[in-house]
Amino acid sequence: MKIAISTGGGDAPGLNAVIRAAVLSAADHGWQTVGIRHGFQGLFDGKGLVPLGPNEVRGITHLGGTILGAANKGNPLRWPKLQPDGRVVEVDRCYELIAAFQRERIDALISIGGEGSLTIAGELWRNGLPVVGVPKTIDNDVVGTETTFGFDTAVSTATEALDKLHTTAESHDRVMVVELMGRYAGWIALHSGISATADVILIPEIPFDIERVCEKIREREHRGRHFSIVVVAEGAVPRGGSAILRATGAAGEMDRLGGIGELVARGIIERTGKETRTLVLGHLQRGGSPTTFDRLLALRFGSAAVRSIADGEYGVMIAYNPPNLTRLPLDQVAGKTKLVPLDSGVILTGRHLGISFGD
Ligand code: F6P
Repeated sequence: MKIAISTGGGDAPGLNAVIRAAVLSAADHGWQTVGIRHGFQGLFDGKGLVPLGPNEVRGITHLGGTILGAANKGNPLRWPKLQPDGRVVEVDRCYELIAAFQRERIDALISIGGEGSLTIAGELWRNGLPVVGVPKTIDNDVVGTETTFGFDTAVSTATEALDKLHTTAESHDRVMVVELMGRYAGWIALHSGISATADVILIPEIPFDIERVCEKIREREHRGRHFSIVVVAEGAVPRGGSAILRATGAAGEMDRLGGIGELVARGIIERTGKETRTLVLGHLQRGGSPTTFDRLLALRFGSAAVRSIADGEYGVMIAYNPPNLTRLPLDQVAGKTKLVPLDSGVILTGRHLGISFGD
């Protein structure tokens, strides 16, 4: 058997742990493994294939990033192609990709990715390629799995940042608005905001009213609390409004969100007159060493993907349904986003703690 591994979409802490576990589990079966560099891009010309054996994956469990490189663009189903008239149109290169797999004599693919990469994996499977998916993203927005690896690390990083902002916010009697990642789901903002005792948490699932946000800040003023921490998910939406996009996902690229933190801060300054600062935590949330939880989950995912191949079960995603890992058909994942349920116990906990969700 020759197995290929690809890491698509944005990187997430734990990718290297999945690669290591998959390579060593495959070696245990006497199988060969190759890595595809930068998502699927390395396969089109065959130049981005790297042999992976026990030596290549030594000492990488604790390393952030991915030894294979990642790519947030270059979706093979929506590949941007420049036309003679200067226009860019999207073309489907799925068959080309399958031909490349055959040319390289690859028997099975482990596709480690978020919803976008898993949708591509599902399409490759429908077109005859034996694929097993592994859910990855700091955003935790993949359906069918309790959590993705990378999420716990991102939440820890965000929580630590919020803890640090508390002290400076209090010294200066300021409002600190912190914009966190998560795309159209509020998991990172919710979990870190509650853990770090934010005063306001704004998530895409609960459209906010800036007046309610300011009410919370004023109420704290009256109680002698002259500072506030406002956590805003990058996909948060004002009531009746929409998420702020820096760029739409044209020509095979993902939408880029960002800017809502600044908008919220302006709203607070205008209405309360409070000195307010904004921090966009950005890609710090994607970096660094995976937490113990993410490492273990990622190692389990990598070895479970190889077990699925050994069982001849393809077209599935490995999912975490505590305490077990399960297999879920890829077509149940494609095109879906796991949002924070409004009846979530975590949101209820926040409300009992007196945190405002801006509603
Ligand atoms: O999906 C992971 C993620 O970090 C999102 O939270 C964020 O919106 C996006 O990727 C940022 O992408 P890029 O690395 O292309 O800026």
